[in-house]
Amino acid sequence: MAQDLTLRGRLAVVTGASAGIGLAITRDLVARGASCVINARRESVLADLARELGDEGVRAVPGDCADPGVIDAMLDAAREVSGHPPREADLVVVNAGRGLRGSVLDSDTAQWAEVLRTNVLGAALMLRAAANRMLADIAARAPADRAPGRPRDIVVLGSTVGRHVSPFSSMYGATKFAVHGMVEAARRELGPGGIRLTLVEPGFVESEFQGVAGYDPAWFAQVKARIGPVLAPPDVARLVSFIAAQPPHVHVNDVVIRPTRQDYP
Ligand SMILES: NC(=O)c1ccc[n+]([C@@H]2O[C@H](COP(=O)([O-])OP(=O)(O)OC[C@H]3O[C@@H](n4cnc5c(N)ncnc54)[C@H](OP(=O)(O)O)[C@@H]3O)[C@@H](O)[C@H]2O)c1
Repeated sequence: MAQDLTLRGRLAVVTGASAGIGLAITRDLVARGASCVINARRESVLADLARELGDEGVRAVPGDCADPGVIDAMLDAAREVSGHPPREADLVVVNAGRGLRGSVLDSDTAQWAEVLRTNVLGAALMLRAAANRMLADIAARAPADRAPGRPRDIVVLGSTVGRHVSPFSSMYGATKFAVHGMVEAARRELGPGGIRLTLVEPGFVESEFQGVAGYDPAWFAQVKARIGPVLAPPDVARLVSFIAAQPPHVHVNDVVIRPTRQDYP
């Protein structure tokens, strides 16, 4: 029998939802029946998306993904959306992030702090806050409704450059190596409590990422000519929905998703 990929009743939070992979994930989750709290810095883009997807099940919380106050506001908004009795988000997608062109020697040092703060600190703070709320939610429930009675997921976006050292985006790659280590450590901590922490490691996905990172468009055109077609954001979104739709006792830990013709990284 075909697997049922409905996410009806799931209560999601997605960071970096104004563009690229996070935007596609939001659309896919909502299409499968999930309610969604969406975050990014561009408030008007989030407001338009919430309107398009139906304001009732989608709530925008604009702001910086590494700001603890914004993180709390996202998780509070999920409780508000959840209805009565209130419950915590059960699907948190830690997606907001940015790249940076260049090596340790020639990348723009003025952008290092933002890359580290967004990709590492933002991910760690969200992971911790979401996990603590899920654990409290589990502890407050009757034993029959505790893990693995119903799925609770945290899905974090890593990268193939967080697994294979890349000389053309070294500082960005270093942030993703940090994220991979953090996720695997926390997976071991959270799994026994019934929380599935999943790392998704995409290869080349065409999005705003390349422009924000400062990649030379001619270089990226060459990459696409050599290994294309590269992934589109909905390709990653389908994978995230597949992960979240597994039965509660099944945990897809760690998935690499690349364009078929991508050889490296
Ligand atoms: N594209 C790829 O080839 C690729 C490959 C592997 C992994 N990834 C990872 O996948 C994730 C998404 O990338 P993408 O390709 O979708 O990039 P994208 O198109 O540039 O989208 C990035 C999203 O993150 C948000 N964002 C960035 N900084 C933020 C901050 N400080 N606070 C809140 N939101 C912030 C952006 O929104 P605002 O600008 O509105 O804040 C945007 O919604 C990232 O973690 C990236 O490292 C991407």
